Amino acid sequence: MILITGATGTIGSDVVRLLVARGVPHRALTRDPARARFGPGTEVVRGDYDDPESLTAAATGADAVFMVNAPGAAAPGAHDRALLAAVGAAGVRRAVKLSAIGTGEPGSGRFSAWHVPGEQALRDGPLRWTVLRPSMFASNFLWWADDIRAGRPVPDQYGGGAQGVVDPADIAAVAVEALLADGHHGRTYTLTGPEALAVPDMAACVGKALGREVASAEVSEADSRAFVISTGIPAEFADGVLEGLAFVRAGGNAVVTDDVERVLGRPPRTFEEWAREHRAAFA
Ligand SMILES: NC(=O)c1ccc[n+]([C@@H]2O[C@H](COP(=O)([O-])OP(=O)(O)OC[C@H]3O[C@@H](n4cnc5c(N)ncnc54)[C@H](OP(=O)(O)O)[C@@H]3O)[C@@H](O)[C@H]2O)c1
Repeated sequence: MILITGATGTIGSDVVRLLVARGVPHRALTRDPARARFGPGTEVVRGDYDDPESLTAAATGADAVFMVNAPGAAAPGAHDRALLAAVGAAGVRRAVKLSAIGTGEPGSGRFSAWHVPGEQALRDGPLRWTVLRPSMFASNFLWWADDIRAGRPVPDQYGGGAQGVVDPADIAAVAVEALLADGHHGRTYTLTGPEALAVPDMAACVGKALGREVASAEVSEADSRAFVISTGIPAEFADGVLEGLAFVRAGGNAVVTDDVERVLGRPPRTFEEWAREHRAAFA
């Protein structure tokens, strides 16, 4: 029995889908089971990081857990620590944590420290653990849909900085391997796509999928703060986001690894494949 946190989210929902396909018993945690949409093969359980008893109940009878920190204002490591306390008491033996590329790397901005305490708590604890540090999710670029549909250039807030953008489906597939197969204990995988791409490259991939040109327009460093706030990011988080953008602009996230291929035995999917598959969202 595998407990999936973040089961309604980007990676967790794909992990659920893969476990359904493989017929592996699993339990999907959400704060609101009435709102969640899962098929009959999935056991749904209510749970909230702010309600430790709900986590203990959700973990009872589970063998392994997929750990997803919810984005937001919680103290770094708080969600991981709450979950680890609950799954430890319930006798869970294995954990796979969704972290992020560049975690704790100097110069990558204050938000890169977000997963440090949770990773440390996992490594220091008794469970068999695997940490996944994915690069930028390809699915983030669904935020371009309105611009592309309206024929506007997509914003390039990364100043041409390339990133090893990764298909969420590959992250989920690696997570499932680490949850089910042996040989991943004590490993930290940095999960990227097969190439480092800047925004103009990615816009061209979406354009190819649509059969028309998709242009991009650089957001200058001077306009970056206003841009970040215009995306709905609260002002108190803007400085941390800007530090992250500066790191990418300077080439800090132009990282490509072969970890997806080493775990899955096949190359990671390209951004172009992802764009073709999600063509309808932009068309
Ligand atoms: N986006 C990227 O490019 C990227 C790259 C690298 C790493 N990451 C990491 O990926 C993780 C997930 O980020 P995401 O933006 O993709 O979010 P997400 O997983 O799509 O959504 C957040 C999930 O958290 C759950 N949640 C929210 N508050 C909760 C609470 N109080 N208790 C229990 N569950 C709660 C939500 O479930 P319910 O609403 O159903 O309760 C939802 O399933 C983050 O830790 C982030 O650092 C993201």
